[in-house]
Amino acid sequence: MWILKEFGTFSGYKSKTSVAVAHSLPEQVKIVEVGPRDGLQNEKVIVPADVKIQLINLLSEAGLSVVEATSFVSPKWVPQMADQKEVMQGIRKYPNVSYPVLTPNLQGFESALKAGAGEVAIFGAASEMFSKKNINCSIDESLQRFEEVMKAAKDSSIPVRGYVSCVLGCPYEGNVSPIKVAEVAKKLYSMGCYEISLGDTIGIGTPGSMREMLTAVIKEVPVSALAVHCHDTYGQALVNIFAALQMGICTVDSSVAGLGGCPYAKGASGNVATEDVVYMLNGLGIHTGVDLAKLLEAGAYICKALKRKTSSKVAQASCKL
Ligand code: HMG
Ligand code: MG
Repeated sequence: MWILKEFGTFSGYKSKTSVAVAHSLPEQVKIVEVGPRDGLQNEKVIVPADVKIQLINLLSEAGLSVVEATSFVSPKWVPQMADQKEVMQGIRKYPNVSYPVLTPNLQGFESALKAGAGEVAIFGAASEMFSKKNINCSIDESLQRFEEVMKAAKDSSIPVRGYVSCVLGCPYEGNVSPIKVAEVAKKLYSMGCYEISLGDTIGIGTPGSMREMLTAVIKEVPVSALAVHCHDTYGQALVNIFAALQMGICTVDSSVAGLGGCPYAKGASGNVATEDVVYMLNGLGIHTGVDLAKLLEAGAYICKALKRKTSSKVAQASCKL
């Protein structure tokens, strides 16, 4: 797992020019595969645990270094993740792969630890209404809960990733201020999260709004500790990721076959497809360590199990060839 320190000292980056004027691209990008969690949490049918386990194993074999495996959330809120313990205990854990899980509170953290999780993620939002709908509390209350998780994680030497949702717009409040995003991101980073993933939960952003938001956040959190998490609702995800790479971002979240969405953001489509991100990065000469052919197999496996068409353009095109 990479824990990047400061922008400019990361040797994978080609340029040391300041973020505001950086136009070169990173030499390598870490992909955080979120399909088994963000993807499958939104499926209408309950996916059997053994299918999830096989998917996670295939993703590990494809060379992904981070595969977000499941969520330790309430089964009443997200029934699709109710088999979290079985999934965590059933997967083959590859030595160089981390398998973070979502933990909204101490209860989730303790269950995750018991199930053998070695990394967790807390998830907040830059929008009050989304926070209330998603985790049933205000932003301030969520930060208090996260402090408890951070303390317990520190005591057990568990690394914690932090998410900020609705960074480019909210399904309930509309526009979200980049200043608010920067404020929440800074709080999570100051608490000790090693990385902050900035989520365009409803996929509404454009390269313009992505740049504006990142400009604000980079003033508060080192760019090397930031990730982008783009949903593709408006077909802007790849171009938004490209804009983020130009600003120094080296970590990108994506979901195999473009699965997913958020149960508390109606109408939001899946994340950008991992296959499409890898194809773009390969074309740019950026190293990911991911074997595209094996990744396509993992995507084909889950689409067959779900009896649905892939949302990855690369997978669709590869089938035609
Ligand atoms: P709550 O109802 O306010 O919780 O839910 P509570 O503390 O009042 O407890 C009520 C009941 O929930 C109790 O059970 C607790 O034991 C149980 P009861 O006594 O009624 O039987 N409970 C739990 N059960 C299992 N695991 C737990 C847990 N905590 C309490 N951790 C809660 C608060 C946060 C639990 C709930 O709102 C919840 O589970 N929300 C999760 C929503 C979710 O998973 N959303 C999707 C993930 S976020 C996302 O997709 C965005 C992201 O991808 C980035 C982006 O795209 O922007 C990350
Ligand atoms: Mg998401």
